[in-house]
Amino acid sequence: MSDRPILSAHRITHLYPTPRGEILALREVSLTLRPGEFVCLVGPSGCGKTTLLRILAGLLLPTRGEVWLREQPLRGPDRRVGIVFQKDSLLPWRTAMENVRLPLELGGWPPLEAMERAKELLEQVGLKGFEQAYPQELSGGMQRRVALARALAADPEILLLDEPFAALDAITRERLNEALVELWERQRKTVLMVTHDVQEAAWLADRVLIMSPRPGTIVAEIQIPFPRPRGADRWAHPAFLQTVWAIRQALGNGGG
Ligand SMILES: Nc1ncnc2c1ncn2[C@@H]1O[C@H](COP(=O)(O)OP(=O)(O)O)[C@@H](O)[C@H]1O
Ligand SMILES: [Mg+2]
Repeated sequence: MSDRPILSAHRITHLYPTPRGEILALREVSLTLRPGEFVCLVGPSGCGKTTLLRILAGLLLPTRGEVWLREQPLRGPDRRVGIVFQKDSLLPWRTAMENVRLPLELGGWPPLEAMERAKELLEQVGLKGFEQAYPQELSGGMQRRVALARALAADPEILLLDEPFAALDAITRERLNEALVELWERQRKTVLMVTHDVQEAAWLADRVLIMSPRPGTIVAEIQIPFPRPRGADRWAHPAFLQTVWAIRQALGNGGG
């Protein structure tokens, strides 16, 4: 694993203007992602996590500070950075295959190749056989799988995930997290995932970043030393529970 950062934020501060004055969403946030890392970001609701992810994806320009993608400042959306939001929806009039194919079409791929690639991606997220299904024919978990496949379509190096499975029931969410880890192990994308679930963060990440309440800033960083694969037997390890506890404590110390 190279130690050169792939994506980094330097003292990001963000203010939203509102009719009742400015809202300071983020204050001096700095972070660094290294190639192939799986990092989770946890923080209380409203602390600026989504704002930070949008800035890291080049979708929002920060009031102050800079984001660097490898050796260059990020000036806008970039093909190398993919993002999945909790609520971004699929186009209901397009099949699963057509939804995944969309970014490829926009990227100028020849139709036949785009179809092949979309098919392959759907298989990778466990949706073989559902290529022709429309979103309303798919369960919530399957729809999230399509959204994940769509984000992977342009083959980004970095995947930013904003509570991607938060709306799902616990069992479905666990399955999707397993699928995500499997994808990550196979493709070694760099992942930054926002979650409000401390146990999920400790299970998935190499490193957990903890944010304070608004204005959000990173107050702690906890390394997760457990070897992979991390199966259900993690619950039997006191060290795992201790890590979960440490993250909770750090969140508490931020006042959350
Ligand atoms: N477009 C916006 N205009 C004004 N305020 C906003 C906007 N988006 C978010 N905020 C405010 O910024 C703060 C951080 O929001 P957000 O990044 O969504 O937090 P989180 O994802 O951690 O819940 C909140 O107080 C929210 O109300
Ligand atoms: Mg959010």
